[in-house]
Order: sequence, then C-alpha cells, then structure tokens
Amino acid sequence: METILLKAEEKNIVAAEAVLREGDVAAIPTETVYGLAANGLVPSAVRKIFEAKGRPQDNPLILHICSTEMLDDLAEYIPPLALRLAEDFWPGPLTMIFPKKSVVPSETSGGLDTVAVRMPKNDFTLALIKKCGFPLAAPSANTSGLPSPTSAQHVFDDMKGKIPLIIDGGECKYGVESTVISFDGDDRLRILRPGAVTAEMLREYADVIIDDGVLMKIDSDEKVLSPGMKYKHYSPKAQVYILDGSNEKIEIFLSERDSECKTAFLGNGNEKLKEHILRIPYGATSEEQAERLFSGLRYCDEMDCDEVYVRMPDKSGIGLAVYNRLLRSAAFRIIDLKV
Ligand code: TXA
Ligand code: MG
Repeated sequence: METILLKAEEKNIVAAEAVLREGDVAAIPTETVYGLAANGLVPSAVRKIFEAKGRPQDNPLILHICSTEMLDDLAEYIPPLALRLAEDFWPGPLTMIFPKKSVVPSETSGGLDTVAVRMPKNDFTLALIKKCGFPLAAPSANTSGLPSPTSAQHVFDDMKGKIPLIIDGGECKYGVESTVISFDGDDRLRILRPGAVTAEMLREYADVIIDDGVLMKIDSDEKVLSPGMKYKHYSPKAQVYILDGSNEKIEIFLSERDSECKTAFLGNGNEKLKEHILRIPYGATSEEQAERLFSGLRYCDEMDCDEVYVRMPDKSGIGLAVYNRLLRSAAFRIIDLKV
C-alpha cells in the first residue's frame, strides 16, 4: 500500500474524510501525540487500527469528538463533574471514561462496558471530525510497544505501507498522551494515565486518586482499570535506564560506561559528559521533557544506541506523565546513585 503525506490544511480535509468514510485508517495530528484514526462506530474500520499497530485486542481506544452533543450519543450517563471538566478543559488533553451506549462497538471499547472520550485541540482534526459526523477512534499512531509519535515523520517510520494517509500537522505541542480519568461518584475522580491536565489542576474540581497503575508495575495477567497500563510501552530498541542522583554522581556513572557500547543520555543539558556519550536534547523543565521524551527515545534508535540513560524527572505537574511513560520505557529499571 502506498502511504501519502498531506499537510494539515483546509483543502486536505476532503481527502482525509474520503479515506475515513471508506472505512480506512488515516493518521491525524493532535496537541498530544499523533493518532491512528478510523470510524469509531464501525467494527471493520476499528479492526484495521489494531492490525496496523499490532495492538492487543483487549486494549480499548479513545473516541475523539468535536462537540459535547457528540458525547451525548456515546455516553449512557455523564456526571455533572464531567460536564464542568469538559467546559474548562475541552478541547484539550483530557480523556474521560463513561458507561457506553450500545452504538459503541465492543471492538472500540476492548470488550468493556465503558468508553473513553476526548475532544482534541487541533483545528484540522476538529474540522475533520465535524465533516465526518462520526467520532474517530484513535490510539497513538505508533507500532504497539514503541514510543508514541510526536511528528508526521515518526508516524511514517512506523506506518509506511500499512495505512493510506498521514496528515502532517507539524510537531505536537505536549508530546505525551492525554490524561485519562474515570469517575468515582460525583466528587471524586481517578487518574488512570497522567498527562498535561495535571493532578494539581484536577484537584481544583474534585478529590483526586492516582491509580496504582500509574507508578507501579502491573503483571500481564492482572485485571486493571486501564488495560493500556499493563503492556510494555514506549520502548526504543535500546535498553533504557533511569538515573536518580546529582549531576556529579551521574557524570561519574556515565564516565565509567564502556566506550565500546553506544550510550546516549537525556539530561538537563548542563552535565559534563565524556565524548563517547551521545547527548540528546531533553530539557530542564517538565514541559520540555514531555515534549522531547518520545522523540529523544526514537532518536536513540536512529543512532543505533545500545543503551540510553535518562535523568529522573521531577514528578509534579506534567512531570508525573513524563515519569509514568519513562518507567515503562525503562521497564522500571531505576539506578539509584543517591547512596
Ligand atoms: O492523547 C491521547 O490520548 C492520544 C491521542 C491520539 O488522542 N491517544 C492515545 O490513545 O494515547 P492510546 O490508545 O494510545 O491510549 C489510550 C489509553 C490506553 O491506556 C487505554 O487502555 C485507555 O486509554 N482506555 C481507553 N478506553 C478505556 C476505557 N474504557 N477504560 C479504561 N481505560 C481506557
Ligand atoms: Mg498508545
């Protein structure tokens, strides 16, 4: 199959709409990461997403909408708290989980009786959903297990020959996927996956529980609230390790790495590194780190690195999202240099 790249310009909405109406898959830009979209109400279209990604069937997809009216068609019940959050955070990087209506096929919900919904903040994608008139099911547009794509080139690297169309909307603003929440009664919510709508922001609206799956390892046979949490995730071919310690300790640790092994490092930029260590831009703030983590990990593979060390991120704000993704990229390997 030939994979065409088109810019996220108004004149290309028709082409994207045609692909989606045919029941095919198109990659679309969002403010978080690129999505692999299809008509979320048509089982055969949704199955094509799972095929292109190589994604386990029990991992449910998010439905992307362009108006709150569309939500009424999908959710059996919408708590008042959800409406307040939608008012303040949509369009934006917040995904909410609702009991689903029967129009949502079990292919989309991964067999669950709930559905995840979000309104992305991207003009092209919102206009496309409006034109289509149906919600777009869209997981991140990477091959399952690899870091999520934050540019059209990343999507092309993974999906070339597997999907007909990629819409290029430039680099994604946040670089980590949306915050996923579920509701525990009327004034309590649970963060299943942290993102740019942070726990601190959500605490202004309700009691916030951070689900155990956010920071803990989950066995593959364990039942979890968010199935995506249990899979190996966001990992480049290189082995990833988290380094927890001061600049000085990190410098000593890296200087002792074998120079035969191709080693990369993502740090805050002011660590002094020996020449054989490849320094990858990462940044000192959590916002920069969120934006650059996935592209940094993908770059390690481009450079054929054997191992990559990443400085322990700050865990507040969007930093919690960075830490959550990094733990999985590193298969929970943390090297404690504080002792
Ligand atoms: O920012 C994003 O959310 C991106 C863009 C494309 O919108 N999408 C994305 O989708 O990250 P995906 O499929 O890679 O991640 C969706 C996560 C998974 O961890 C999945 O298990 C969880 O949301 N999820 C989806 N539906 C759910 C449901 N009904 N109950 C619990 N978790 C659900
Ligand atoms: Mg994903």
